[in-house]
Amino acid sequence: MPIDINKIRSEFPILNQKIHGKDYVYLDNGATTQKPIQVIDAVSDFYKNTNSNIHRGVHHLSDLSTKAYEAVRSKVQNFINAEQEQEIIFTKGTTDSINLVAFSFGERYINTGDEIIISAMEHHSNLVPWQMLCERKGANLRVLPFNKNGELEMDKLPGLLNDKTKLLAVTHVSNSLGTINPVKEIIEQAHKANVPVLIDGAQSIQHSIIDVQDLDCDFYVFSGHKIYAETGIGVLYGKEKYLKEMPPYQGGGDMVDHVTLEKTTYLDAPFKFEAGTANYVGAVSLGVAIDYINDIGLKNIAEYEAELLQYATAELEKIEGLTIYGKAKHKTATISFLLDKIHHYDTGMILDKLGIAVRTGSHCTQPIMDFLDITGTVRASFAFYNTKNDVDRLVAGILKVKEMFA
Ligand code: ALA
Repeated sequence: MPIDINKIRSEFPILNQKIHGKDYVYLDNGATTQKPIQVIDAVSDFYKNTNSNIHRGVHHLSDLSTKAYEAVRSKVQNFINAEQEQEIIFTKGTTDSINLVAFSFGERYINTGDEIIISAMEHHSNLVPWQMLCERKGANLRVLPFNKNGELEMDKLPGLLNDKTKLLAVTHVSNSLGTINPVKEIIEQAHKANVPVLIDGAQSIQHSIIDVQDLDCDFYVFSGHKIYAETGIGVLYGKEKYLKEMPPYQGGGDMVDHVTLEKTTYLDAPFKFEAGTANYVGAVSLGVAIDYINDIGLKNIAEYEAELLQYATAELEKIEGLTIYGKAKHKTATISFLLDKIHHYDTGMILDKLGIAVRTGSHCTQPIMDFLDITGTVRASFAFYNTKNDVDRLVAGILKVKEMFA
């Protein structure tokens, strides 16, 4: 079913403004997505009518807040098809979710000499926590490389998996290159070697249907703000068999069973991993964002974005002196590029003056830039509210940048 682009664009107030006197073209969706009015209104309504701390009060609004928060847990469970509601933990975001696993799984399962596998195209958030864990435990990080098209060198994976491997953590979609990695195949191979797998879904949750049971991943993490909800809310999905064994990540209120001055016992998952006042309003916003996405349909979104990617790639390839980084066969609508002899910051700043928002730099993936032997790229990352007109504006903007530097 084609998506109703005019209706959709009217629901994102931020898109309907002028920046530097020009109609706004927002192409930095990999960094964060904009919010539909339904999400914005729901947050405002919640503060006007419902706000009270969760899991704590006997009073009416506290009960309503708690029910609203827990209802989103069940909504997320259905959205990613988790087997059980207790397998959904609310966090601050992808980074927080990965740090939770790195600490807690690390405490329980990682010892001196053990190995953890990541890929060379990870965002720093799926690299640094594992480096920190390896340093704490005397473990070693092994790295699956990628080729010049931005595709993982899958033939190297069997050589990395061995008796010492305790976890494999890989991104589903590269935030810099747009590559969609063959995570199902990776999980299958890892499981044959008895290695659990964490999937970083920060750049996949908003672009494709996620079914954690079908993938059979052991952990899947994502951020609310990349899927049209508020910042500061995220999700960690984990298989119950691991969550049961993993110790709490942080201590505090709301995660305890019984506390004395001598000893504390903890609640079961998910609560033992949710110390302190949770971002329950963020969770509410995530619930509304999921409803919004479900109404449009992720299949329709994926089809529309694929068409945008095809159009944008073809148009950008026509520009002389423009190099695209990341030419994987399977990609989301993210295009990293450079113009000959023009610094990515310069391109980004001129595009900004033309009302076009892109991201420039290393995109928190410095090892990718090292591999490509560049300092950064200009990245245009699309969402389903972008249009071919946005692509045309980007192309015209790039031609203007070239003209200014000629
Ligand atoms: N991870 C976000 C990005 O890729 C911030 O831009």
